[in-house]
Amino acid sequence: MAIERTLSIIKPDAVAKNVIGKIVSRFEAAGLKIVAAKLVQLSQADAEQFYAVHKERPFFKDLVSFMISGPVFVQALEGEDAIAKNRDLMGATDPKKAAPGTIRADFADSIDANAVHGSDAAETAKVEIAFFFPELKAR
Ligand code: TYD
Repeated sequence: MAIERTLSIIKPDAVAKNVIGKIVSRFEAAGLKIVAAKLVQLSQADAEQFYAVHKERPFFKDLVSFMISGPVFVQALEGEDAIAKNRDLMGATDPKKAAPGTIRADFADSIDANAVHGSDAAETAKVEIAFFFPELKAR
């Protein structure tokens, strides 16, 4: 299996709940390594650019407002099959549908305040990591 990198964001709801460490522990326990990380306050322009693929969706405005409502903890994670592994750890977008024991089942309140973001494919991972960590050398 290939060593990959993926972008993870611990969203404002989870940062406010003080569970950054609990979430990061799950990545570590699953064998994912943090190769870059920072706590940042996104601007409206940052959030709109990051979620540009969703700009025609009805939830776009609320999603952007939520993502700038407080700091987020952004990490580049590396490991075997990192993209799918992170998506498995996160659980379904809607926490009501997320499998027991997943991050969203345990820490998310709703489909819009859903604790974490994770890249969904190799191409998006590359773009998302470059967006937050342009200094990180591609592997
Ligand atoms: P999406 O890429 O579909 O989900 P995921 O984060 O699991 O990859 O959607 C991006 C974010 O948009 C999602 O995490 C929360 C928000 N969102 C809503 O607020 N309402 C919705 O109905 C959907 C589908 C997403």
